Amino acid sequence: MDLGLTNKHALVTGASSGLGAASAMALAREGATVVINARDADRLAKAADWIEGETGNRPGIIAADIATARGLTAIEKGIRDIPIDILVSNGGGPPPGQFLEHESARWEDAARLVLDSARSLTRMVLPGMIDRGWGRLLYITSVGVLQPVDDLILSNTYRAGVTAMCKTISNNYAQHGVTANCVCPGYTATERLMGLATRRSQETGKTREDILEEFASMIPRKRVGNPEELGALVAFLAGEQAGYISGTSIPVDGGLHKSLL
Ligand SMILES: NC(=O)c1ccc[n+]([C@@H]2O[C@H](COP(=O)([O-])OP(=O)(O)OC[C@H]3O[C@@H](n4cnc5c(N)ncnc54)[C@H](OP(=O)(O)O)[C@@H]3O)[C@@H](O)[C@H]2O)c1
Repeated sequence: MDLGLTNKHALVTGASSGLGAASAMALAREGATVVINARDADRLAKAADWIEGETGNRPGIIAADIATARGLTAIEKGIRDIPIDILVSNGGGPPPGQFLEHESARWEDAARLVLDSARSLTRMVLPGMIDRGWGRLLYITSVGVLQPVDDLILSNTYRAGVTAMCKTISNNYAQHGVTANCVCPGYTATERLMGLATRRSQETGKTREDILEEFASMIPRKRVGNPEELGALVAFLAGEQAGYISGTSIPVDGGLHKSLL
């Protein structure tokens, strides 16, 4: 299937590893011209090497922190002359923990990382999309939006905000050819998941491998996901054929969440 992404420009944040890198790769494989962002310039350059090696096209890179005003300004400057057609808003996850474990500063940091970044990135690209009558806004959230994860209160809370923002943007702007959707990963084999497994292992005294097996046993598919499986959905939602899909939150979770919709 030709997704019609040749000649489209994509910005993918949080894209030096994991789900962001897989999304950028999937878009680049479909012919999109990609700009990738993350904080660490060396890791970002390695991700660019990887994408160039697979596709022959070197992505643009912007090393910047999406949780800071300075980082967002750097991204805005970096894409000033690029008509971004596709935004994949992604980044690191806030620290795990329950309500009483987090002081106010942690909540503020999480809000900046998850919700404020998504809002600011959208503000940078949406007017151009409306002018051109075509756009794809994609927010990587979490299956925690469908069914909150007990020790991820910061993530649960602010990703719910991103979901509400996405749905409202869809209501307001889909008429201009701009679709807005959330992609909700379940347990997926990335650095972040390994970090969560290590934390649980330290808390429980079990090995990290045992913890990963426990994750897998909860999932109807009986394994954790691969980042490429999420990247494939991102590319599809970015494509022409997905032009009538808007305002949704689609899980890529091996059947993990228990709700009907
Ligand atoms: N993997 C899962 O099982 C899973 C499940 C549900 C939800 N999620 C969510 O999906 C998102 C991606 O997860 P992942 O598993 O792919 O994580 P990951 O492997 O840790 O990758 C995170 C990426 O984001 C970048 N990043 C982190 N903080 C950033 C910041 N402030 N500004 C710019 N870039 C930043 C990282 O690079 P730098 O560190 O160099 O900046 C890296 O490229 C996270 O928000 C996570 O919570 C993941």
